[in-house]
Amino acid sequence: MANAGARTRAVAAEVVDAVVSGGQSLDAAIAEREARVAPDDRSLFRMLCFGTLRNHWQLQHWIGQLIDRPLKKRDSVVNALLAIGLFQLTDMRIPDHAAVSQTVEAARQLRRPKLAGLLNACLRRFGRENLSAQAATTDEARWNHPQWLIERLRNDWPDDWEAILDANDARAPMWLRANSMRQSAAGYAARLAAVDKTSELLDGVPDAVRLAEPCGVEDLPGFLDGDVSVQDAAAQIAARWLMATGPKRVLDACAAPGGKSGHLLELGGEGFALTAIDSDARRLERVRENHERLNLAATITAADASNPKDWWDGTPFDAILLDAPCSATGVIRRHPDIKLLRRDSDIDTLSALQGAILSALWPLLAPGGRLLYVTCSVLAAENNGVVQGFLEANDDAAEDAVLPNNNIRDLMRRKACGYQVLPGTAEMDGFYYACLVKKVS
Ligand SMILES: C[S@@+](CC[C@H](N)C(=O)[O-])C[C@H]1O[C@@H](n2cnc3c(N)ncnc32)[C@H](O)[C@@H]1O
Repeated sequence: MANAGARTRAVAAEVVDAVVSGGQSLDAAIAEREARVAPDDRSLFRMLCFGTLRNHWQLQHWIGQLIDRPLKKRDSVVNALLAIGLFQLTDMRIPDHAAVSQTVEAARQLRRPKLAGLLNACLRRFGRENLSAQAATTDEARWNHPQWLIERLRNDWPDDWEAILDANDARAPMWLRANSMRQSAAGYAARLAAVDKTSELLDGVPDAVRLAEPCGVEDLPGFLDGDVSVQDAAAQIAARWLMATGPKRVLDACAAPGGKSGHLLELGGEGFALTAIDSDARRLERVRENHERLNLAATITAADASNPKDWWDGTPFDAILLDAPCSATGVIRRHPDIKLLRRDSDIDTLSALQGAILSALWPLLAPGGRLLYVTCSVLAAENNGVVQGFLEANDDAAEDAVLPNNNIRDLMRRKACGYQVLPGTAEMDGFYYACLVKKVS
């Protein structure tokens, strides 16, 4: 049988290369290839993929110092493998000799035997010359982010940009949402303790439970019965906020994969009716699965939120959740591929789309009703930029700046309009929220 450790590194190199050179998302690249990795090696495999992408710019900087001429395009997978080798030497607790020999062997498994010698020489030279001790000379290598994103963060968050960049490169914890129809968060934490799992609660986010150590969902008590879901605490703020005034007819306008719509249903109570739409019919399957597991139901439709005349029945909603498509720059710690896949030019396109969806949905809201605009972005152009522009253009719209509870205030930054949770705050993802109310004329 082929050497399993080398196989793990070879498949990880294919994943990293699929993201860096092929533009594939990390989740999709892993899903396509993970079955080829030995089950016992899958956690190492994921660490290699995530860690190498998190540290992409620093690793490429070192590679630039180690090889005189860049590798040919058709050998980009060897470049990815070299990055994986360097990542092991600098960030993982694997003995150097094992990391080097398995990585070199992986080059043979990738049918690049002639480049195995080059890899061996580079990895050994890296240790010998202590290259990791040299300070990075570019912003990109120092912060492991593309220059355009560093600039935007510097501009939007002059006092926080460094902390945001650091938080983006940290590993994210596993957050759970206790289903409040079944038990409180404290009650669920007690169930976890009974199976020797340590967890913590968070003031201001009532259903949230943070696991000290991540685990598979199959190890969570009651997961299959819908007693608990996996969801970052910052994402849990949305449904609690929108449901604080007890709306009964609610639209979730960008619902897939269904995390927030499941939470809305858990909080809805008697007579609650949720319409969940998304333009991606395949992703809507995930919404159905999530609701089934919770044993709760919504009206689910594949539809374009920016074109309600195709799907709206004309009855106004009491409340609308617009969890808009965005750059996802608030969740980079969970999706390091975002740093490689997004372009600066995407941001204007996204803010135009966000503004168009917001304007199209506003007529669907009843007078006195509330619309919660949410993104998992930290960029002003997608957040208060969109909302301020909307408020200026719509006299019947105003911000409702009242937070769902007082404890949450310490977790949020107040913006010109709306509030931002920055990534890393109380170990949460980065999210933006602005609650808009339709004036009663
Ligand atoms: C941030 S995700 C939503 C996450 C979801 N609310 C949850 O909590 O699981 C944004 C979603 O917007 C959807 N989307 C993008 N453009 C859309 C449009 N024009 N109409 C409806 N949905 C759209 C995407 O398919 C994606 O599923």
